[in-house]
Amino acid sequence: MLFALKKTPVLAFIGANGVPKNVLTPLIRLALVASLLLFVSGQSATAQVPAAGDASESAALSSNPIDPAVEQKIEVLLRKMTLEEKVGQLVQYSAGQPAGPVTGPTEYKDLIIKGEVGSLFNITTARDSNAYQRMAIENSRLKIPLIFGLDVIHGFRTEFPIPLGLASTWDPELVQQAARVAAREASATGIRWVFSPMVDIARDARWGRMAEGAGEDPYLGSAMARAYVRGYQGERLSDPDSVAACVKHFVGYGAAEAGRDYNSVEISEHTLREFYLPPFHAAVKAGAATIMTAFDSLNGIPASANPFTIKEILRNEWGFRGLVDSDWTSIAELIPHGIANDPAAAARKAFLAGVEMDMVSSFYHDNLANLVRSGQVPESDVDRAVRDVLRLKFSLGLFEHPYVDEKKDAGAMLQPESVSLARETAERSFVLLNNSAASNGSPLLPLSRDLKHVALIGPLADDALNMLGSWSAQGRPQDVVTLRAALAEKLGADRVHYAKGSEITKGSDDQLAEAVKAARDSDAVILALGEDASKMTGEAASRAHLGLPGRQEQLLEAIVATGKPVVLVLFSGRPLTLPWAFEHVPAVLAAWFPGVQAGPALVRTLFGDFNPTGKLVVSWPRAVGQEPLYYDELNTGRPSGKADLTRPPWEGTDKYVSRYIDEQNSPQFPFGYGLAYTTFRFGPPQISSTTLSAATLNNGLLDEKRSSDSPLTVSADITNTGTRAGEETVQLYVGLAGTSTAQPVRALKGFQHIKLAAGETRRVSFRVGPDAFALWDDHNKYVVEPARVKIWVSPDSAHGSEATFEITK
Ligand code: NOJ
Repeated sequence: MLFALKKTPVLAFIGANGVPKNVLTPLIRLALVASLLLFVSGQSATAQVPAAGDASESAALSSNPIDPAVEQKIEVLLRKMTLEEKVGQLVQYSAGQPAGPVTGPTEYKDLIIKGEVGSLFNITTARDSNAYQRMAIENSRLKIPLIFGLDVIHGFRTEFPIPLGLASTWDPELVQQAARVAAREASATGIRWVFSPMVDIARDARWGRMAEGAGEDPYLGSAMARAYVRGYQGERLSDPDSVAACVKHFVGYGAAEAGRDYNSVEISEHTLREFYLPPFHAAVKAGAATIMTAFDSLNGIPASANPFTIKEILRNEWGFRGLVDSDWTSIAELIPHGIANDPAAAARKAFLAGVEMDMVSSFYHDNLANLVRSGQVPESDVDRAVRDVLRLKFSLGLFEHPYVDEKKDAGAMLQPESVSLARETAERSFVLLNNSAASNGSPLLPLSRDLKHVALIGPLADDALNMLGSWSAQGRPQDVVTLRAALAEKLGADRVHYAKGSEITKGSDDQLAEAVKAARDSDAVILALGEDASKMTGEAASRAHLGLPGRQEQLLEAIVATGKPVVLVLFSGRPLTLPWAFEHVPAVLAAWFPGVQAGPALVRTLFGDFNPTGKLVVSWPRAVGQEPLYYDELNTGRPSGKADLTRPPWEGTDKYVSRYIDEQNSPQFPFGYGLAYTTFRFGPPQISSTTLSAATLNNGLLDEKRSSDSPLTVSADITNTGTRAGEETVQLYVGLAGTSTAQPVRALKGFQHIKLAAGETRRVSFRVGPDAFALWDDHNKYVVEPARVKIWVSPDSAHGSEATFEITK
């Protein structure tokens, strides 16, 4: 087994403020909210970091405005509504393919006519959305339009890579463009609300939903959260091709114990604020119109009935003024969670905690009016929730334009520029994990175009459906170009020896033999192995074993045994533990599930028309037993330090440290890692100052204008040491010591992309703002403290030399 020592890393984050809120008067709250919107806006390392700085944040907030004329209309409408009609606006049902247990009604016409439904989801065509809308507009008393939602997660018809892949581009600008395409296509069918982005921090690869998010890091996760919100919501929500974002799952869902979906979560307030809340806060500051509460029980209080997270943090601290939706039956699930013994109690607890709309369970529909009548829920609270629903509908322009043009529906899909964006995002999502020497002494990839025959082997080589990932909205297999199709196009079908080799979860000896023959008859092999996207990744798809399923490991080893050069292309929604492969296969590319342009993007990459740029957004484990595994861990009192982790411990110095006796602590590949077809050298970081004062930095934190001031510039010379042009993602990490709370060994605080010609050297500079050094202190306040600081400018989270300086009082 290969053992590479992990360099001591470290971390921290960004966040909201630490003012205790239950003592706040409404006025102070208003002022606080205003100042929060100002001062918490900053991300650090502002200057050259694409979309990580927040200059456009206040503009984006206007997508969620308070318009007096609209407020007036809302009040007029509210006065006309019966209690049942008000409750109706807080009711949401799935009117299509169910994505969970169904507990409510399945026929909606009568309910819509009575004004007892506010939203439907899972409708996917303009014809169907118009038909339902007509029931509301033509037949209900108050003619309040329905709002249609859908899980548009990484594209609507033009499927992009899964979100884990999109995040691996480290390119928020590109992700924003992909979200815009999704908004354009979805809105053409009447869908004006997408249940995306999922911004849950995911540190455990066993959790299937790691595939749906941006990985383990709060800084990158925040940048991605903003990108999706901006892409979906566009300039204005009222533009007909804008859709409301729904940021999910609030909060802590990704920390499910043992990586088992829906499982309970224990996260201290400190950890919540440092790691789990920041991407939500970033999305809120970017103007996200809605939030979805989570399934999990968080520190004993289910997230869908948790007044601390919803009312105190989201509403009071952050000033969120959009709509709070439940997750699918998460209100009904308060009963099995054990905090309610009947539907009325569940509805009361969820509603009083701040959940305004009930997705699917029907508990609000059946109980809320009675709860008001019996005095258990104030009607004024119901009014406030109804206002939030109506405001969203007004903001989207649904009252003026409730219908979509059914003739334009199809024309919006798969536009050529959308498809080429799908190819670009796919290319940039691939992470090159291994690329060692072939027999001629140079790295195996890129493959030569002169190869006479290439064997293409594996269950995912020609599998269109799986390229679409686990949430594919309207993505269709016939829109996908598979690796096999693209390779045949590139080389000519007669030069490609295709053999499936096995199915994903099973396989036969005959399939295996056929594949071995194909490999023997060829000059090189491309192996396309991995997971089943819908069965093994996404919701309800946790895995206790992270190897290749079925007989694929056997297939892999048999193909490598032929002695042919092998490129392994891994399709998965998470990192897979494949120690044998990483030791024996010269070239391995993590391709995630790449979307409709999977084949062309892969072929261009494998043959060098595209030089890989993707970087890991999750730490890649060596063994399942390492999970949860993340780079921004806290140091321990007994760090492994200089202990030799490549062998079992013998002595006290080796033994009594935080380590495994049978595995290294370090990941197989660290967060931020990814190779290219060239190499880069990172010079040591240079810092513009050796001391900064905490007082000045704290003033900067409190003052919006000054928080974008950069008291420190960090620079490093980066050289392309290879023979071809390439692009590197230069990463800035910070570590703090001597603070009131233990801080991560290393924390991402900035990144930027740099393109270098062969042999070229360029200086990369980061202007670092005060929030790069801010932390949540021992009183849960967001401050900068005196500290000893380490700074790295590096190609990933485990390498690079450090510069040090002091933050004084
Ligand atoms: C349950 C999932 O947790 C959530 O992410 C999704 O948006 C809803 N179902 C609606 O389908």
